[in-house]
Amino acid sequence: MQARQIGGLLGIEEITNKPSKDPGFFDGSHLCLTDARSGIWLLTKLLSPGTVWMPSFVCKVMIEAVEKARVPVCHFELDYDMRIKSSDWTDQVKANDLVIFVDYMGYPYHTNCTKKIREKKAWILDDASQAWPSNVQSEMADFTLYSPRKFLGLPDGAVLCFQNNSDLMNNTNLKQPPKDWIMQSLAVVQWKRDFDRWGGTNPWQKLFKIVNDTFPLGPYQMSEFSHMMMSRGINFQQIETRRNENYVILNELLHDVALFPKAPLDMVPLGFPVRVNNRQHLQDNLLSHNIVSGVHWNLQGVISNRYVESHRLSKDIITLPCDQRYNKNDMIYIAETIRKHIR
Ligand SMILES: Cc1ncc(COP(=O)(O)O)c(C=O)c1O
Repeated sequence: MQARQIGGLLGIEEITNKPSKDPGFFDGSHLCLTDARSGIWLLTKLLSPGTVWMPSFVCKVMIEAVEKARVPVCHFELDYDMRIKSSDWTDQVKANDLVIFVDYMGYPYHTNCTKKIREKKAWILDDASQAWPSNVQSEMADFTLYSPRKFLGLPDGAVLCFQNNSDLMNNTNLKQPPKDWIMQSLAVVQWKRDFDRWGGTNPWQKLFKIVNDTFPLGPYQMSEFSHMMMSRGINFQQIETRRNENYVILNELLHDVALFPKAPLDMVPLGFPVRVNNRQHLQDNLLSHNIVSGVHWNLQGVISNRYVESHRLSKDIITLPCDQRYNKNDMIYIAETIRKHIR
């Protein structure tokens, strides 16, 4: 068995102390925010849409962000392959509504609904919180939301880009994120990096839960620390390359269970989603081999049960780790562990 644990929360990156050329998180007109949910909240406040539309496969906090801005949420249905089932819902979209598309795990979304939405004079947000900028089709949207902290192990950090209507940015009055929270979040990612390197106990887990339960949601800007790290601390190129190489290996070895087997070859994924029967069984098996997998997301109690295929997907989906901490051998180890389990 693998001695070192693979997966779980990303620890903070090694500081390079060299100027870093960011791959596009900071392109054009943008606001730097604490987290992506605050970006959804802020945009909803700024646009005051009648309705915010989002897929039937989302994380709970996206809904909470819109509800906090006191705007109703409607969903459009995704099927078991995470594709939009039909474009009928666009008939109900009205002028000034906000429609959110999600680049799941960094895999660019595909839709033929954008033309109709534009004709209706509604707004489009590309929620690229799980995507690396090179995998995003931002020209299809009015706004793009990134969450670099998810790729870089930073304590906080999201970026809301305004491809259109950048005047809206003048109406914001952002404040510092709560200092206590930032320090706790920094402690978690630093402890996690130490754990990944040297093992030992898991002191970060308890604090992680506290941090996770108290994410700021409101007019909060990115901490100075995360901002500085992104301009002078991170080797983006290495992260991009490692994730891409890991993706290519997993896709080759687990093609038949991959959720997106046909992603572009230059893919920089957040994680590698697969679908299996009896997920819990596989997750337990992976854990017994020191591999931590994730579930994005559990929809029970979050989305109406009438979205049957989204719920079915939510029951079967597993996210495998393929980030910059790991190499080819780690990917082969993950794939072989899965192969032995499902053969
Ligand atoms: C697609 C998407 N949007 C927004 C969010 C919220 O991100 P944050 O935790 O940075 O607020 C998440 C979180 O998982 C997400 O997956």
